Amino acid sequence: ARIEKAGHRHFMAKEIHEQPQTLSDVLAAYLDGDRVAPPVDHDFAAADRVVMVACGTANFACSVAKYWFEGLARMPVDVDIASEYRYREGPVSPASTALFVSQSGETADTLAALRYARGKAAAIVSVVNVTTSSIARESDVALPILAGVEVGVASTKAFVNQLAVLLCLAIRAGVQRGVIDSEREAALVAGLRRLPGLMSQAMAIETRCEELASRLAEASDVLFLGRGLMFPMAHEGALKLKEISYIHAEAYASGELKHGPIALVDRTLPVVVLAPTDALFDKTVSNMQEVMAREGQVLLVTDSEGAARASEGVWQTLVMPAIDPLMAPILYAVPAQLLAYHTAVHKGTDVDQPRNLAKSVTVE
Ligand code: G6P
Repeated sequence: ARIEKAGHRHFMAKEIHEQPQTLSDVLAAYLDGDRVAPPVDHDFAAADRVVMVACGTANFACSVAKYWFEGLARMPVDVDIASEYRYREGPVSPASTALFVSQSGETADTLAALRYARGKAAAIVSVVNVTTSSIARESDVALPILAGVEVGVASTKAFVNQLAVLLCLAIRAGVQRGVIDSEREAALVAGLRRLPGLMSQAMAIETRCEELASRLAEASDVLFLGRGLMFPMAHEGALKLKEISYIHAEAYASGELKHGPIALVDRTLPVVVLAPTDALFDKTVSNMQEVMAREGQVLLVTDSEGAARASEGVWQTLVMPAIDPLMAPILYAVPAQLLAYHTAVHKGTDVDQPRNLAKSVTVE
């Protein structure tokens, strides 16, 4: 069937707004009652490590998942960019699980990396949107993200569903490895089931994002900061902005600010700080204050508790629904997308087909 924009101005807008539904669809396929039950089960108990390889947005999904697998399943995880991994001859053993994440399933570098790992006899697991793709076909286990066709070159709903599947796999691995008991699993599943509703609520920030876009559109550089799970999300926010608005954006771990990027801060620099109230919140806030002391324009993305604790002196605050910090990346994809989208619309760039980019890169 032909895919239409369904009343939206761009496919990207349509795909952002579909997320509560597509997220709910993928969770329905990976949850069973109060258990995580992926459509195909892979045994992580036997694996000595997980090597995750992908490109672009999918690579940032892997970087988030590293925190999840380490924290929930106590497994060592390496994350790599496919174009680096394929030539590095990194050690991977038959005892390792090599996990490849790709929306299209056709990215040339990711496919080549998969073949390298297969050559070393690792177990090959892929997380794909296109289940008939080369990457899916060449895997031992191919797990669908069930996002439906994604047309916008900048990935949105596929990213969110990649995160959802990876979180389910990390929980499953934790159960298999005896790190997560059934009570904790049930609590995590209850949290997962709340996500689509929270994501619908999060869409309420869109009007504010539209307002802020006119200011962001004037910037020549934007800095994204985050700690822990929000560090890879800062990368994803910066990537989205670069891809579609052509504004230079960089991501840094908040704690690394003082080792270089703080030299860039002045009153012309918008600094987007992704900070749900989590264990690292106060540390992020003190990093944020270092930016404000140098007149950086802070756009704080947090929940109402965080806004109450730390809004003083910030340029703007975007208030998100409160959420279990472990699951926050899935929700905080929304502000990353909406800020980039509306900034690009304001600039008048070609949102769905940005210059120089392709939806699927099938050449090296
Ligand atoms: C291209 C797209 C990105 C995507 C990346 C990986 O660069 O423009 O949006 O994240 O490829 O694509 P894949 O299909 O492997 O997820």
